[in-house]
Amino acid sequence: MQLSVRELAKRYKTGDGVSGINIDIEKGELVTLLGPSGCGKTTVLRSIGGFLEPDSGDILIEGKSVIGLPPEKRPTSMVFQSYNLWSHMSVYDNLAFGLKIRKMPKAQIREAVEDALKLVRLSGFGKKYPAELSGGQQQRVALARSLLLNPAVLLLDEPFSALDAKLRHEMREELREIQTKTGLTMVFVTHDQEEALSLSDRIIVMNHGRIEQVAQPQQIYDQPASLYVAGFIGKMNFLEGVADREEIRLGSLRLPNDKGLMGRVTAAVRPEDVQLSAFAENGSLLKGRVKQVMILGHYAEVTVELDGFGIVRAFQGKETVMQLQTGQVVGVSISKLTGFPVEEAMEAAQAI
Ligand SMILES: Nc1ncnc2c1ncn2[C@@H]1O[C@H](COP(=O)(O)OP(=O)(O)OP(=O)(O)O)[C@@H](O)[C@H]1O
Ligand SMILES: [Mg+2]
Repeated sequence: MQLSVRELAKRYKTGDGVSGINIDIEKGELVTLLGPSGCGKTTVLRSIGGFLEPDSGDILIEGKSVIGLPPEKRPTSMVFQSYNLWSHMSVYDNLAFGLKIRKMPKAQIREAVEDALKLVRLSGFGKKYPAELSGGQQQRVALARSLLLNPAVLLLDEPFSALDAKLRHEMREELREIQTKTGLTMVFVTHDQEEALSLSDRIIVMNHGRIEQVAQPQQIYDQPASLYVAGFIGKMNFLEGVADREEIRLGSLRLPNDKGLMGRVTAAVRPEDVQLSAFAENGSLLKGRVKQVMILGHYAEVTVELDGFGIVRAFQGKETVMQLQTGQVVGVSISKLTGFPVEEAMEAAQAI
């Protein structure tokens, strides 16, 4: 294991903090800490980097505990949200600084810096000063500076959040490319679920100082481990149903009860798993009324008021939507759901 975090806990005087944090990351993996503001992502990352001493638990990098070591003695390097470049130094000197401290020979430094600039697509920018660069360029220099230290684990705390949407997208792709080229192990922090889904080998979803789920992006999306994760990632409908043995019943609909739940359940249903058709009174469809149709490019989001269930949202192809009118009665079926016991739903609501 390249990085192992064991039972990490850190509580601030205010009572906020994190606990029960266990993370295992393999060499070459890009793992994202994802969660809402204040859930403890930075606390975990700073603990790994040595900027914060945890109350208890252990952090092992390449099998060795780094607890008690200052940041510069740890085989980690951190990229911050604010680029933290030295404004009085040229790009070249910003990059060379860490290597000079490590007493790398001059010629070797030159070569390493030029390679790093090339990697972040800033060849020829060495003589410029940070103030002469755009935000995206500055963040690329900060990234290059961290890469040059050749860390065992690279830590990135919302490095792209100050950039506009288009640039953020580009930087994401570049980071992924750099990671493929260098094989670096990375822990990336974001509260942007789209960023996490598109970038990560695995995602750690955090909530209120705890880990809710650790899994690959697709699995987080398809099989959320808790109601919290179900609601946090992507769009989701929540419907009340009843479970007994093999089935979960939503009105007249019957779906598989994979988890063997009993009694009242909350069914989490993705909008793409809701189908609309002409209504027929044969028990295989729920009855609903179209409230709103929103065209979103190549697909549309249709809001339907379901008899006895409230609002449900469905993603539909443009062709289906052409024939729909507000107020029209439609048949609704559901092809897939993830069920949760209702008690858990109440806990999640209280937590929020
Ligand atoms: N130095 C501190 N002293 C007291 N409380 C703190 C301190 N730093 C963070 N906290 C609190 O600890 C909790 C976790 O903070 P943290 O910065 O780890 O969250 P985060 O997930 O990184 O949030 P964001 O997405 O806003 O950066 C928050 O409730 C925060 O207010
Ligand atoms: Mg943070």
